[in-house]
Amino acid sequence: MANASWVFTPTVPQLNKIKISPSIAIVRSRVHPSDRISKRVSCASTVQGVDQLSPSESKPNRLVGNGCKLVGCGSAVPSFEVSNDDLSKIVDTSDEWISVRTGIRNRRVLTGKDRLTGLAVEAAQKALEMAEVDPDEVDLVLLCTSTPDDLFGSAPQIQAALGCKGNPLAFDITAACSGFVLGLVSASCYIRGGGFKNVLVIGADALSRYVDWSDRGTCILFGDAAGAVLVQACESEEDGLFGFDLHSDGGGYRHLHTGIKENEALGTNGSVGFPPKGSSYSFIQMNGKEVFRFACRVVPQSIEIALENAGMTRSSIDWLLLHQANQRILDAVATRLEIPADRVISNLANYGNTSAASIPLALDEAVRSGKVKPGQTIATSGFGAGLTWGSAIIKWN
Ligand code: ACO
Repeated sequence: MANASWVFTPTVPQLNKIKISPSIAIVRSRVHPSDRISKRVSCASTVQGVDQLSPSESKPNRLVGNGCKLVGCGSAVPSFEVSNDDLSKIVDTSDEWISVRTGIRNRRVLTGKDRLTGLAVEAAQKALEMAEVDPDEVDLVLLCTSTPDDLFGSAPQIQAALGCKGNPLAFDITAACSGFVLGLVSASCYIRGGGFKNVLVIGADALSRYVDWSDRGTCILFGDAAGAVLVQACESEEDGLFGFDLHSDGGGYRHLHTGIKENEALGTNGSVGFPPKGSSYSFIQMNGKEVFRFACRVVPQSIEIALENAGMTRSSIDWLLLHQANQRILDAVATRLEIPADRVISNLANYGNTSAASIPLALDEAVRSGKVKPGQTIATSGFGAGLTWGSAIIKWN
């Protein structure tokens, strides 16, 4: 039965404003301290789970409060390292050009039989250990990735590898370098509106699989990694996600994409027809200058909106944690927001742009090194292909 301290109010997640314009959908949310949203939930995510358990057994109905907080983090990177000097042996570039224009010096690349799922599992295990949460207590696994090991989604494989005996719901979220921020906000919606309690949000990508290693405009930027956080339901007073702001603009697709190869839409006999040939994706196509301008324009705006939705100002920010794309983007956004350089988290020199993994990877390093301390406020923002972008104002632990 209901815990007396909670009010049962089935309702939708707190999306308090939705505006849609022809090219841009804007979703904003503010967490109102006075709101108390809770809901009974019952779910099973696998056929085996459904067969074995009756609906009432599959997941205990429960009531939870409307707060959610980040209680653990972890990360993992491949062991194979590729330096700028290594790249200068395969394309016409130099350590000086890459480090001055991007801030990147090294990146890690998945090789041999290593799989992205393995990295994601390692990162998730570390997050669970830090949070002191047993895999069986996890009720949702969100894998934010654009490069899953399986086109149908890799989150269920992670759920199985972690040994989550309760068959928690597990699925992938695809939003390129914005994926982790979208995953974080999704986790908060599932917790606040869906009654979920422990949500693993994993950002993991292996863009090296889609890099043209003969294109010096892109191959210098990307690396592979995984990072994870455990987002947990809590009392509203302990809430750790203060406000957010999410956007997408498909009109900007042409600036950054990895689309399905068009010539493979032909039939096996070479004509348009049936049966279709097997498909694969092109290499990453990017207009670096446009993406650079886009990021410097939209990220400060988005963070300002997320702050406004949180009822906070720039002065509340202890750390600025942006998607690690290019040091010059980090510097430009910090300058625009008047945030001092020593408050900007940056680890892209060692890993490059690891897409959806970059924010949780940098967060994990900053937390484990003691840089980010419990109770501190972080403004985080992801941006990239889609185009997509979004920000969240969060508290660490
Ligand atoms: N080494 C040496 N020279 C190079 C290299 C290289 N690796 N790459 C480009 N150049 C040359 C160009 O050919 C050009 O030469 P030219 O003047 O003779 O024509 C010159 O350097 C300048 O090239 P630009 O493309 O104008 O260089 P820019 O300063 O814009 O830097 C970069 C390029 C690093 C790609 C930058 O535009 C950038 O970082 N953009 C943002 C990209 C990004 O963040 N993308 C990921 C988004 S996340 C996601 O969703 C996947």
